[in-house]
Amino acid sequence: LAAPASARDLAGLRVLISAGGTREPIDPVRFIGNASSGLMGYALARAAVLRGAKVQLVAANVELPDPAAAAVSVVGTTAELQEQMLKYAAEADIIVMSAAPADFRPETAAGQKIKKTSAEQELDLHLVQNPDILLRLVTERTDPDQVIVGFAAETAPDPEQLIELGRAKLARKGCDLLVLNAVGGGRVFGRSDSEIRLLVADTDSGADDAPDDGAASQPHAVAGSKDLLAHHIWDAAGKIRSRR
Ligand code: CTP
Ligand code: CA
Repeated sequence: LAAPASARDLAGLRVLISAGGTREPIDPVRFIGNASSGLMGYALARAAVLRGAKVQLVAANVELPDPAAAAVSVVGTTAELQEQMLKYAAEADIIVMSAAPADFRPETAAGQKIKKTSAEQELDLHLVQNPDILLRLVTERTDPDQVIVGFAAETAPDPEQLIELGRAKLARKGCDLLVLNAVGGGRVFGRSDSEIRLLVADTDSGADDAPDDGAASQPHAVAGSKDLLAHHIWDAAGKIRSRR
C-alpha cells in the first residue's frame, strides 16, 4: 500500500461517495439497470473510515453490509441519487462518484405490470436521458478546495485508446481525478479485484507545483483488490486536496 491504513491522513475531512448502480422502473416489477455491485464504492468508504474521514455513502441497489461508521443513504433511480448527492455535496471536502447511474430511463413507467397480449406483440420503450450528476456537482461546486473524483467505465481495444477515452471524459466532466476502468469481458463489475488507471486533471498553477510523479502524463495500470485500489484512489485524492 502506498499509505498504511493506520495513517489517518483524511482525519477531519468529510467525504461523500456514491456506490452501486441505479435502476429505472419500466413497470412495478421491471427495470433498466446495470451490473454495478457497489463493491468499489463500499471499499472506498471502508478505506476512508480507516483513514479518519467522516463518510456519507449514497448507495443505489447495493446488497452489501453497511461499512462500519459510515452513514448510508439508500436510493433507487438516478434522479434519487442526484437528489441525495446534491443534498450532501456542499458540506463535502471530497466527493467520489463511483456509482454507475443509468444514463437513460423510460419516459413513463407503467403503473401496472405490462402484460403480453399475443404471440406477435412487440413492445417499444421510449427512453429519455438522465441528468449527469458528476457534471452538475462540478458545475455547482461552491468550495474551490473541494476535490471531485469521477469514474469512467470504458470498453477499448488497447490501453492507448482506453486512455484517450479517459482523457476525453476527464475534460468533459471537469473533475479533478478520473478513475479509469476497462470493462467488458466479465471484468470489473461484481468482482472483488479490478485494474484502474488514475488520470489527474491538468492544473493551471503549473510553475509553483511540486514536480509531478508522472502519473498524469503516463498513467500506469494498478491491479489488485478493490480494497487496495481504494487506498490508491484516496492517496491520489488526498494529494490533490493537500495542494489546494
Ligand atoms: N455519471 C453521473 N451521472 C450520470 C452518468 C454518469 O454522475 N448520469 C458519472 C459516473 O458516476 C462516473 C462518471 O460520470 O463517475 C462517468 O460515468 P460513465 O458512465 O463512464 O460516463 P458517461 O458520462 O455516462 O458517458 P458514457 O456512459 O456515454 O460513456
Ligand atoms: Ca454512463
